[in-house]
Amino acid sequence: IIQELCVTGQVQILRGEEGVEEASRRLINGECVALPTETVYGLAADAGNPAAVKAIFTAKGRPTDHPLIVHLASAAQLPEWASEVPKSAWQLTEAFWPGPLTLLLHKKSTVTPHVTGGLETIAVRAPSHPVFQAILEKTGLGLAAPSANRYKKLSPTTAEQVAHGMAGRISAVIDGGPCEFGLESTIIDLTRTTPAVLRAGPVTRAALEETLGRPVSTPENHSIAVPGNVEAHYQPEARLRRVQTSELGIASEESTAYLIWSDAAAAAVADFAKAGENLLHLPAEPERYGQALYTALHQLDQLDVQTILVEFTPTDESWAAVNDRLRRAAGTG
Ligand code: TXA
Ligand code: MG
Repeated sequence: IIQELCVTGQVQILRGEEGVEEASRRLINGECVALPTETVYGLAADAGNPAAVKAIFTAKGRPTDHPLIVHLASAAQLPEWASEVPKSAWQLTEAFWPGPLTLLLHKKSTVTPHVTGGLETIAVRAPSHPVFQAILEKTGLGLAAPSANRYKKLSPTTAEQVAHGMAGRISAVIDGGPCEFGLESTIIDLTRTTPAVLRAGPVTRAALEETLGRPVSTPENHSIAVPGNVEAHYQPEARLRRVQTSELGIASEESTAYLIWSDAAAAAVADFAKAGENLLHLPAEPERYGQALYTALHQLDQLDVQTILVEFTPTDESWAAVNDRLRRAAGTG
């Protein structure tokens, strides 16, 4: 086993078996550590320790009424956190856990209100990343973990992005490689009569409906006012504007970067995109586009441009998660 311990700014980057040992020790001690998940990197702390949970809010600069997701080793732990586990929860965990699906359930009265932002519901998921799983197993804890970014900033999908964005705010991150999905988990509310997707993500509504054998409503026909589910989320430093492919060529300004997916767009911006540095061409397929999106935005943001022009992506349901994040990044909810 190779132990590598290097320091980027003030955030230690931990690796391998030793990283898992060290992070587990710190988490049991009530500290926060950033960990890889299959969706985005999370900033984890003991969900049963109010002081540890408070430290997450401080590190992120996040308002304390914004609820956190509790990460569990498996569905067998659900009764420790939820007052009632409906059949739909068992069906969904059987089909999708461990993986990028978060369930909203009624919380057990023993759960500290710090985790749920004072709400009577609790969000739970079992992440599939082997590093996160190893830590859940080793510590035996439920781990509260929001995305490991400052409040309203882009979510990180690599350890380097965590180290850069959280310098001076957290002590360590485990490097588990680039995230497999690159977008936050799907959140489904199982506390209402008709299950509702509160946040689009890697698990599609069609897949949820198929497993449950009944209709699931979507964010478009459900506006759920929960702190934390705000418009101005996931934003780069540059102003992000979504434009039609035909507008890309004429919309060019001095300080502009381009994020495109179609060949037509590549032709339209060929004259403006100097040497390709301010142009990123993402895959024309929703899962692969989603996997690369945050890293692309982080990368274009490093150029210190004023504007990032993002070519509109297709509107069919397979692009729902990507379109949700782009709408929010553009500040158009
Ligand atoms: O993929 C993910 O879900 C990542 C990784 C780290 O697991 N986590 C994540 O956490 O995206 P965060 O805190 O950035 O977003 C969690 C969102 C909150 O913003 C809120 O909208 C919703 O989950 N949420 C959590 N608890 C809730 C509750 N009790 N009621 C309604 N929404 C809730
Ligand atoms: Mg977040």
